[in-house]
Amino acid sequence: MAQIAYKSVSKFYDDGTQAVENLDLAIEDGELMVMVGPSGCGKTTALRMLAGLEEISDGEITIGDQVVNDLSPKERDVAMVFQNYALYPHMTVAQNLAFGLKLRKLPKPEVQERVNRVAKILEIEEFLKRKPRALSGGQRQRVAMGRAIVREPQAFLMDEPLSNLDAKLRVQMRAEIHQLQRRLGVTTIYVTHDQVEAMTMGDRVAVLRDGRLQQVGPPQHLYDSPLNEFVAGFIGSPSINLVEAQLSRGDGGLWVTFGDHKLPVDAELVRKRPAIESYLGKPVILGIRPEDFEDTGLEPDLPQDRRIKARCDLTEPLGAEVLVYFSVTATGVTSSALEAEAKEDADVYLGGDEDTEGKTRIVARRRRRKRAPQTAAPAKPARPLSSASQASALAFHGAGGEPGEDPALQGEGEHDHGHGHDHGRGHDLGPGDLVPGLPDKLGQGDRNRALVGSLGE
Ligand SMILES: Nc1ncnc2c1ncn2[C@@H]1O[C@H](COP(=O)(O)OP(=O)(O)OP(=O)(O)O)[C@@H](O)[C@H]1O
Ligand SMILES: [Mg+2]
Repeated sequence: MAQIAYKSVSKFYDDGTQAVENLDLAIEDGELMVMVGPSGCGKTTALRMLAGLEEISDGEITIGDQVVNDLSPKERDVAMVFQNYALYPHMTVAQNLAFGLKLRKLPKPEVQERVNRVAKILEIEEFLKRKPRALSGGQRQRVAMGRAIVREPQAFLMDEPLSNLDAKLRVQMRAEIHQLQRRLGVTTIYVTHDQVEAMTMGDRVAVLRDGRLQQVGPPQHLYDSPLNEFVAGFIGSPSINLVEAQLSRGDGGLWVTFGDHKLPVDAELVRKRPAIESYLGKPVILGIRPEDFEDTGLEPDLPQDRRIKARCDLTEPLGAEVLVYFSVTATGVTSSALEAEAKEDADVYLGGDEDTEGKTRIVARRRRRKRAPQTAAPAKPARPLSSASQASALAFHGAGGEPGEDPALQGEGEHDHGHGHDHGRGHDLGPGDLVPGLPDKLGQGDRNRALVGSLGE
């Protein structure tokens, strides 16, 4: 078990591709760090450099106190679990587990002892004599994990280890890996595309884009206080709604206008993040998490100025909750995270048929009403859905919300307390990729600070 650190690590492949750029990331001893980002952003490369399977072009990687740049994979003593776990088909489960240890010339009794212990931990004892083909996908995956665990390495590197499993098994294995990691206390980096895995498993989550680290922090923090539009769009499902908006002052406070709608910005939020004021009169991107909308039918006391009226286009029941789709006249912004994931399909995602021209589709996620009148007849013009939200719900994300609090589940009367779970400005900080109106003359660091000021604590 060890602390791991990437220090200004870069990777250039021979063809000139820069897969990782100046990565600074420290993983604490025993920590489970989840690494996420769109396809091609450098996750596997980062792991392979750590494992010693890929040369480090620049910078330094340390495991414990030791710089490992020039060490062989074996000397680094980390175990990697891949998406395509390869078990030896002609060997039994026990032989598969023992193989690496035998190569290391461990004494036979110790090999036996370790194999038995791991089989017990993973509950695969009864399969020890079987060959892999006689196992289910999940059992095979457990054996693959076992091969990593049995080595008792300093760290586990897991590269989408569950992506070949079906959804149900995935959920089960996710919990198992999580629990196992806690129990063994081994420093782990876990790469995934899966939102839920990222949010639930990680002590912290690192978001990468184009080889660059965007933000790292506890999952809830990334959700509440994303540093930029990319992170805001990447964390959360369904993805955050983004629209162009303007900030103005009036009636003793700040207001945000998008399309025909206008909502107050929570005063508490402005107090906490005074930098928001520097965006007055400038175009900003407003982000609203689907789960921060509430149906006024369920929140009858919500002040008028915190409501917006919209006609529901479609509902999708999810059991305890319902996804409600409606359109607003504001100009939508395609999340760059969504764009990166969906590539050219991103537009399709946002809709754009004749009906919705000039409009932006918004998705809200709300509690199911006791009598679910709308769910049965989505095609009928539903009662106008007034949405939004608590005082700060339309304000800038993470203002005052306690971690773990779900605004949709709060009782009435909570709205005035500034439980901001909403979202604001987020634009990418990448050079040349600015939303018009962003203080352009600021240096990158300043812009970052401005954003931190407006978005983070
Ligand atoms: N051997 C290689 N030679 C040249 N370019 C490479 C090589 N391996 C990877 N790349 C490029 O480096 C970038 C990062 O690749 P990497 O495999 O690390 O991405 P990833 O984040 O793991 O993606 P995915 O989620 O699809 O697994 C990509 O642009 C990829 O095309
Ligand atoms: Mg990969």
